[in-house]
Amino acid sequence: MKKLNIAFFASHGGSNFQTIVENIHSGYINANATLLISNNSDCFAFQRAEKLNIPYMHISSAQFEDGNEFQKTLLRVLDEYEIDLIVLAGYMRKIPISIIHKYKNRILNIHPALLPKFGGKGMYGMNVHNAVKEAGELVSGATVHIVSEEYDEGRILKQKTVAIDANDTPEKIAEKVLAIEHQIYSDTIKEIAEEKIILDKFH
Ligand code: GRF
Repeated sequence: MKKLNIAFFASHGGSNFQTIVENIHSGYINANATLLISNNSDCFAFQRAEKLNIPYMHISSAQFEDGNEFQKTLLRVLDEYEIDLIVLAGYMRKIPISIIHKYKNRILNIHPALLPKFGGKGMYGMNVHNAVKEAGELVSGATVHIVSEEYDEGRILKQKTVAIDANDTPEKIAEKVLAIEHQIYSDTIKEIAEEKIILDKFH
């Protein structure tokens, strides 16, 4: 079985990135943490990558005059590092369509709610937890899914629920959900690496 090379895409904190890399380094997940890419040169995830000894790169559409060059650069880098699986971990940009096509069924995302509820355009970060709170939900959770052309609509690979107390703030809900995210994202990737979840044929 081929050991998968994973590229992570993150924009901010990168706690999911760090947890997954630690689970790779401990041997829990049998894969290579190959590369971190961010659109944000200031992201805290880069500091984590430095400590974890993972190569990291700032690649943003703002660096290029035309979108094609941006896409080509991303594709070239992913190719150079022989990436098999792309793991979005708090990546706040839309993935270019050429990447979605080339890495069909090989891009994962985690969403901080129980899709299909509280998903779609504009549903990210605290917007999600505020909406969950406003709807008076007593259960939320996290969803790992495949990235397709539409926001939050790809095949769902794993979900886990978390109980919400009536007096939990949106921030408290976010904290509870993030703890769940760390578990199910690592577990999903572990199962993919062990071919217990079959995404597609890896080359
Ligand atoms: C998580 O809540 C994730 O679901 C969302 O962005 C947040 C990222 O957290 N897409 P971190 O950067 O992994 O700490």
